[in-house]
Amino acid sequence: MAGAAGRVVRRWYPSVLRSSLQVPALQLHMSKTAMRASQKDFESALSQVKRLKDPGNEVKLKLYALYKQATEGPCNTPKPGVFDLINKAKWDAWNALGSLPKETARQNYVDLVSGLSSSSDSSSQVKPEADRKQPGYETLVVTSEDSITKIMMNRPAKKNAITIQCLRVHKYQPSSSFSPTHSDVPSEMYNEIMLALKAASKDDSAITVLTGNGDYYSSGNDLSNFTDIPPEGIEEKAKSSAILLRDFVDCFIDFPKPLIAVVNGPAVGISVTILGLFDTVYASSRATFHTPFSHLGQSPEGCSSYTFPKIMGPAKAAEMLIFGKKLTAAEACAQGLVTEVFPDSTFQKEVWTRLKAYSKLPPNAMRISKQVIRNREKEKLRAINAEESRALQERWLSDECTNAVMNFLTRKAKL
Ligand code: COA
Repeated sequence: MAGAAGRVVRRWYPSVLRSSLQVPALQLHMSKTAMRASQKDFESALSQVKRLKDPGNEVKLKLYALYKQATEGPCNTPKPGVFDLINKAKWDAWNALGSLPKETARQNYVDLVSGLSSSSDSSSQVKPEADRKQPGYETLVVTSEDSITKIMMNRPAKKNAITIQCLRVHKYQPSSSFSPTHSDVPSEMYNEIMLALKAASKDDSAITVLTGNGDYYSSGNDLSNFTDIPPEGIEEKAKSSAILLRDFVDCFIDFPKPLIAVVNGPAVGISVTILGLFDTVYASSRATFHTPFSHLGQSPEGCSSYTFPKIMGPAKAAEMLIFGKKLTAAEACAQGLVTEVFPDSTFQKEVWTRLKAYSKLPPNAMRISKQVIRNREKEKLRAINAEESRALQERWLSDECTNAVMNFLTRKAKL
């Protein structure tokens, strides 16, 4: 039902605006003396409407009705049949204005447009991405448009490897009290993603998207994180990293709105494991999904030890999480980790068209639906996250892990 209504509105809206915007001023049939100023205001309101952000269906109907009343007077056309939903909605709105004088309708139209213009701030206008970019992030590009907040990992030269800065992380230990401002956190990707998610959870967007810039979605943990040993020692670093990891994954567990991964290319490590906590995962046909934990002397995180067996069955999950089997996008989709795969050549266009349509659905209904789905498992997921983080804290101190990381970091020197 809701889907049908959505399609109806999308089809008729452009024609409503077209008809209300393309009528020449001479057709307005106004009294020249009394209405000269209002006619000018009316014309200017007509062109202002073109630049407004979509004001919603109810307002669009009001605009349509006022326009018809202002230009043609009271509605005297035959009532459309009940199945002609589009024209009936328009007719009802116009007819509801009764015998409202043309001048008053014109004035009301001007007032309505002026109210909409002043309430739509500069972010409602279409601007280049550089202008829409939210400030304060160094490793991300965060933008909000069309009711979608997009968080894009932005270290393409390093395949969007996710960096940490452990020493200052101590400050954020209790995940419940995590509320840093842009000025008091290190500009590292783990922290920036947490900040961006916290901000997106409170902004007025309907859905939130995580994606990557360049040819990779993300190559997972930046392995040079392991070489930066603070004076406090390696144990302390493992401990603070485990706390950071737990807080990071908790942000995904607790995220209150629909969260969508737009996997633009290969994904490795934690960028794969947290996919089980997303609501929808769209992948380019070029994407691959790789969790080489054993190869690195590590163990799974991101609640994947629970979500993967649940999503794809224990046998397939074990092959990925224990043996590091890399999946193609088609395989990941067949196993339920990915919602849908799109050809790489049309990936961005198709996915963003889909997301823009979803972002127009009633945001509160989407939020509640997500909560109903997630709440049942939240405590369990948090407990699993804490357990996985503890296991990793030990793994990071192991010789297996140290040797694997050193092998990666020195591999070019060896070539
Ligand atoms: N950590 C640190 N640096 C990384 C990285 C990571 N996870 N992934 C990529 N990089 C760096 C590379 O060191 C390289 O840096 P350089 O240009 O300064 O030498 C740059 O990003 C490009 O990567 P490169 O390895 O040259 O590209 P590639 O196409 O040959 O391989 C990967 C890409 C992702 C397959 C490869 O870099 C890789 O295996 N990375 C490690 C992935 C990983 O194990 N992640 C942790 C999982 S728990």
